[in-house]
Amino acid sequence: MDVFEAIFTRRSVRKFKKTPINRQTLRKVFEAARWAPSWANTQCWRFIVVEEEEIKVKLADTLSPRNPARQGIRDAPVVIVVCAELGKSGYIRGNLVTDKGEWWYMFDVALAVQNLTLAAHALGLGTVNVGYFDSEKVRELLEIPENVEVIEIIPLGYPDEIPRTPPRKELSEIVFCKKYGNPCFT
Ligand SMILES: Cc1cc2nc3c(=O)[nH]c(=O)nc-3n(C[C@H](O)[C@H](O)[C@H](O)COP(=O)(O)O)c2cc1C
Repeated sequence: MDVFEAIFTRRSVRKFKKTPINRQTLRKVFEAARWAPSWANTQCWRFIVVEEEEIKVKLADTLSPRNPARQGIRDAPVVIVVCAELGKSGYIRGNLVTDKGEWWYMFDVALAVQNLTLAAHALGLGTVNVGYFDSEKVRELLEIPENVEVIEIIPLGYPDEIPRTPPRKELSEIVFCKKYGNPCFT
């Protein structure tokens, strides 16, 4: 699968088969994440792999019952908790140097996560980015230190559904030529 096919056909998967993921495949997914670009190559992303049934159930309980990804976290063979070490991204010699404040770690982690989810898809695996959950409960459950932010939960497994394709905005709405609001493509 080439990169364009992976980008266009990746979908959020929320129903998973119980089929286990072998270690080599799992490693490949994290290798893809590891090679993402980051602020001054600081690589602040950290990942916690959860395969224990009782912990997956507790992780699922950190989502609201209305969150459509909740059951997927219980069912997927692997659940990844995505974190960031603070005080690295956006800093030079201990000082925050841009007008984006402490926020850059979110950007770096998103790049790594996108690599991870596309690589997973290319390997026949499904994922969904889960951002709506109680991160303080996850911190407690997995003993995550204070200098580390909990960012996402990603269930990973072989898909048990063909998800619908949510529409995207047209290029004319999001790409501007010369000045803001002037469409580049019709
Ligand atoms: C930062 C972020 C947070 C998300 N949080 C959730 C979530 O809490 N629950 C859920 O079911 N989907 C969540 N999603 C998945 C989006 O709903 C999904 O990516 C979007 O509808 C587009 O669908 P697609 O990924 O299949 O292209 C999240 C996606 C992103 C990028």
